[in-house]
Amino acid sequence: MTDAIEFNEGLIRRYDKAGPRYTSYPTAVEFHQGFTAETYAEHIALSNQRGGPLSLYFHVPFCDTVCFYCACNKIITKNRQHAEPYLENLYEEIRMQAELFDSNRVVEQLHWGGGTPTFLTHQQMRELMAHTRQHFTLADDDKGEFSIEIDPREADDATIKLLRELGFNRISLGLQDFNPKVQKAVNRIQTEEQTFSVLDAARREGFRSISLDLIYGLPHQTVESFSETLDKVIAASPDRLSVFNYAHMPDLFKTQRQIATADIPAPQVKLQILHRTIDKLTAAGYVYIGMDHFAKPNDELTLAQQNKQLYRNFQGYSTRAECDLIGFGVTSIGKVGDAYVQNVKTLPEYDEAIKAGKLPVLRGVELDDDDKCRRDIITRLICDFALDIPVIEKTYNLNFNDYFADAIEDLEQFAQDGLLQYKWDSIEVLPAGRLLIRNICMVFDKYSQQARQRFSKVI
Ligand SMILES: C[S@@+](CC[C@H](N)C(=O)[O-])C[C@H]1O[C@@H](n2cnc3c(N)ncnc32)[C@H](O)[C@@H]1O
Ligand code: SF4
Repeated sequence: MTDAIEFNEGLIRRYDKAGPRYTSYPTAVEFHQGFTAETYAEHIALSNQRGGPLSLYFHVPFCDTVCFYCACNKIITKNRQHAEPYLENLYEEIRMQAELFDSNRVVEQLHWGGGTPTFLTHQQMRELMAHTRQHFTLADDDKGEFSIEIDPREADDATIKLLRELGFNRISLGLQDFNPKVQKAVNRIQTEEQTFSVLDAARREGFRSISLDLIYGLPHQTVESFSETLDKVIAASPDRLSVFNYAHMPDLFKTQRQIATADIPAPQVKLQILHRTIDKLTAAGYVYIGMDHFAKPNDELTLAQQNKQLYRNFQGYSTRAECDLIGFGVTSIGKVGDAYVQNVKTLPEYDEAIKAGKLPVLRGVELDDDDKCRRDIITRLICDFALDIPVIEKTYNLNFNDYFADAIEDLEQFAQDGLLQYKWDSIEVLPAGRLLIRNICMVFDKYSQQARQRFSKVI
């Protein structure tokens, strides 16, 4: 399979519609409150019977200042003490959840996300990891994938050293854009020095993979200004890059109202920025993994994609398929056995549940056989840009053409438009279809009719 990607503006414009990012299937809009802490416990018991490794996600919701574009689940405060009662509850949640999981199951993946995990003091970070290690068995450094999201404004050499000591071996740094006018408009002032000194420290400490987050479509960005940021990033040579599309949805995210719509690049300019980004990153030797992600050719993600062993979860792409994912903290999402589960979203709700000795489950969804088959198809298409139809037919005991009769017309249209090749035994996404993979997946998404109205644009 070639890793080529073709930027076809006509097709992108034609297919430009809202679509989910498929970090789960069914997507979070299908989660419902009929799924309770008791349902979750039943799924944990079933998953213990199957066994297998675990993945842990910890949500640290605090940030020191607000970035106006931000769509993450965060709480803005300058007071570090605000984290204390939250952490006490988190430790209790770790204890409660650990009791339900078989203690022989090894944690092969761990992630701290946010908000800003490095908002925590060094002592708080030590304690959080100590509680985790007290209740779960973590894999060794060479086997485990232990990652953390860092805001370079909230970290220095000592923080990076500590994180490595605590067991982290992967790091992603929020950067977004170096241009001062853009930074001012989004209220995120971050110098090159701040960013690269953290990156250098991570290299010195032996982090295995270093990733940078950028956003295109921010106010005042132009093709030229974003190119300058890209040049600096390419020169620093991170292992991976995420280049997210800024979705301006001020009705949903209040702080985005601070961004004047008139300052946001027009759709045509955004497309040009994306085009230039893809050209520059591929010319610099990065491989397009899919959905905003690029990696070096020898990176684990790229190799896993080539070997058809790439997977997708709430943190993006992953090389670990079989892990059950346990989410800790407000808004966190878990995947255990054939169910997804999400925690309550606010600090008072979280506090109330934990103080009452209950798991802070807000909602979730159980997958039926149809969901599992569709999830498998969507995952393979996103990760491999290809689908082996006989494997699906055999695994789910169905005839593909009959079962997905509704999808055939769309697939044939995609084939005519040069997005994919569709044969009796396979679908192969062509270079022009790679940027439109969400559209292709939506054909297999039973819920997409409702979903289409609620998601951000594909590009
Ligand atoms: C939790 S933050 C990363 C850690 C840290 N809080 C920071 O900002 O450096 C996750 C990433 O999501 C991306 N992001 C946040 N809001 C976004 C939006 N509205 N559109 C696109 N990307 C967004 C940013 O690239 C950000 O770095
Ligand atoms: S981008 Fe990061 S630092 Fe900025 S508000 Fe969002 S979570 Fe906080």
